[in-house]
Amino acid sequence: MSERPRDDEPILRAVATHALALVVDDTTIGLGTGRAAAAFIAALGTRVREGLHVRGVPTSTASADQARALGIPLVELDGDVELDLTVDGADEVAANLDLVKGWGGALVRERIVAAASRRQVILVGEEKLVRGLGERGRIPVEVIPLASGVVTRALARLDLTASLRVDGGGAPLVTENSNLTLDCRPRAPLDAAAARALECAVLALPGVVDTGLFLGTAERVLVGRVGGRVDVLCRP
Ligand code: A5P
Repeated sequence: MSERPRDDEPILRAVATHALALVVDDTTIGLGTGRAAAAFIAALGTRVREGLHVRGVPTSTASADQARALGIPLVELDGDVELDLTVDGADEVAANLDLVKGWGGALVRERIVAAASRRQVILVGEEKLVRGLGERGRIPVEVIPLASGVVTRALARLDLTASLRVDGGGAPLVTENSNLTLDCRPRAPLDAAAARALECAVLALPGVVDTGLFLGTAERVLVGRVGGRVDVLCRP
């Protein structure tokens, strides 16, 4: 695990530009949330101004606002919408392309939009590559507010130390779904089997809406390296 470079904007722009090659004219695209996704939305906006026809399905208010400002048409995620791909960021990427997502607070919508997409493409800098999930210290779990105390105790029994996510003033941070987020530190980083077992156990707790474990969802991950190289990791 490496540190995030002080100025990683050029790296994010490089992976975003790379991802544009995957966008097909006249399709609907899921728009992720976070800095990498924002770099992609900015690049997509330029293509739209140049004549590309795509529609976006945003995963957060921030992504919707950015896309709207750039002139990217937005559509609702209803039963008739077929998404060709979703482009999003991630907080951790394991060698098998399992992910941790949700540090940016939008994991539930990201899950729904990715699941409605033919493929999920993830953009990261190399500091997000890990040997085991949870290595960077936070696996988010979104919970119904009423359940946060009970779920915190149950997570401890699963060897997860949960901290309620708060805003800059120390107040509980409320998600766009009116829920709370528990950031969970595992006792040790998780291999693929442990991550799957943990996901099942956490999702079984009453009051848990979803977790930031995105296991087997990414079709490919574009990794931006310091110096400008972009590596493409594909699921076998
Ligand atoms: C948002 O909820 C997250 O899943 C983001 O995709 C993730 O936190 C990566 O964000 P950055 O690209 O800002 O690091």
